Amino acid sequence: MKVVKTIQEVKDAVQVWRAEGQDIALVPTMGFLHNGHKSLMDKARKENDKVVVSIFVNPIQFGPNEDFATYPRDLEHDRAVCEAAGVDLVFAPEKEEMYKDGFCSFVGMNVLTEELCGKSRPCHFQGVCTVVSKLFNIVTPDRAYFGQKDAQQLAIIKRMVLDLNMNVKVIGCPIIREADGLAMSSRNTYLSAEERKAALILSQTLDLAEKMAKEGGYDAKSLLNALKKNIEAEPLARIDYVEAVNVLTMKPVEELSESTLVAMAVYIGKTRLIDNRMILGGEQ
Ligand code: PAJ
Repeated sequence: MKVVKTIQEVKDAVQVWRAEGQDIALVPTMGFLHNGHKSLMDKARKENDKVVVSIFVNPIQFGPNEDFATYPRDLEHDRAVCEAAGVDLVFAPEKEEMYKDGFCSFVGMNVLTEELCGKSRPCHFQGVCTVVSKLFNIVTPDRAYFGQKDAQQLAIIKRMVLDLNMNVKVIGCPIIREADGLAMSSRNTYLSAEERKAALILSQTLDLAEKMAKEGGYDAKSLLNALKKNIEAEPLARIDYVEAVNVLTMKPVEELSESTLVAMAVYIGKTRLIDNRMILGGEQ
């Protein structure tokens, strides 16, 4: 496995693989890799000849008061995870390699980016679309793997690829959880022992959402009221949003159906965690 820091080195490797007729996968990450990331690599490994993992804490997707400076980083650990997963190439650029002096071109989107996380993180998805477009242009993957953990991000990337005719198949992968239900996230390391326990409120509330939806008799409003009450009973939790949306458009729905995604962002202490579920078992 090679670890490279320059765009040219990635392009050189890709050129050789292309000449050999190899299928190429990309797994974009911000590093501090856990089993959620690993599940994407495993799927990519199974379905492609070559697997590229990018590790880049992308400054332009963080707001001014967010955790860019403190976001956890551990390239040595990440390298070992990638090696064990059978990755062929790790691309770990410095920010100057990705954003040269004078950088001023962005990929943006309306509507989809204005819902859910877009409300409290206004420039976030423009930063995500821009960096993912750059990575697609650099690696030219046949397939790119994204987690359903970031459901809105997945919907946005799928839409971007469709709208801008990008030659890549976007593949969504299920949420990987700790044994007690907490969705794996690099940000879980911010939680104190007490907060770690309180963080279970997210997955427990999704369990409740699923149970109520399957029982029937609830519309979105009555369901969401019950979910909010459940979260508010946890003293360390503060709701950013809890919504029932259509999984493709991310627009709020009134009636619950197979295409309904319940998505939430909840602060546990100072740490903002997200989680989601298709409450009636539909495809994400
Ligand atoms: P990051 O948060 O590092 O996540 C990288 C990928 O891993 C994303 O597609 C995310 O959905 C997936 N992932 C994270 N936790 C997961 C879990 N518990 N189960 C399954 N998949 C999980 O998302 C980003 O980075 C960035 O926004 C990026 C796309 C790399 C652009 O900078």
